[in-house]
Amino acid sequence: MRIALVYKSSTGFTERYAKYIAEETGADLFKFAERKIIKSCDYDILVFGSSIIAAKISGVEWFDKVKKEFKHSFLFVTGANPKENNPDLEKYLEAEKVKGHDVFYMPGGLNYEKMSTPIRFIMKKMFLPMVKKEQGEDSLMYKMVSSSYSLYDEKYAQPLLYEIQRVVV
Ligand SMILES: Cc1cc2nc3c(=O)[nH]c(=O)nc-3n(C[C@H](O)[C@H](O)[C@H](O)COP(=O)(O)O)c2cc1C
Repeated sequence: MRIALVYKSSTGFTERYAKYIAEETGADLFKFAERKIIKSCDYDILVFGSSIIAAKISGVEWFDKVKKEFKHSFLFVTGANPKENNPDLEKYLEAEKVKGHDVFYMPGGLNYEKMSTPIRFIMKKMFLPMVKKEQGEDSLMYKMVSSSYSLYDEKYAQPLLYEIQRVVV
């Protein structure tokens, strides 16, 4: 089965997972900007990788529109949150499922160095003060998001790889 993997990534976390998944599955890899060149008649499976931005899955409207054209489709998202013991994340993913997005979540992190200047400004001036106010300066969360960090681990891609392999064989 032929697989097209489209990814949308600004600071590299989703791209890293996408490249790993493409390597493991033999998928053809496309940046989001290249998505229009994909013909559904050339592929059986569409995989879309993106990130959570302000609680929304960036670019998911495009995925929702085109996924019906493929025999199988899969969605994975990266975010700033750790995966384990995270009731807020569970709640978020459950709400996305209700909307029809059965996503595979892969922890990314935050990379302030790769953010555009306006986005970095927003993060430093609005997001950080908000976390500080809500969770306190000594909270684990505030300490974690105060500077760049990576939670990337190939192990988080395994559930998706398993599901892709299940439909391939
Ligand atoms: C402006 C902005 C808003 C974000 N909002 C969220 C969010 O609501 N929830 C979350 O888990 N992560 C959030 N993040 C973190 C990103 O989802 C995370 O860094 C992701 O891995 C970025 O993917 P990329 O490196 O492929 O662009 C946000 C990041 C930025 C820059």
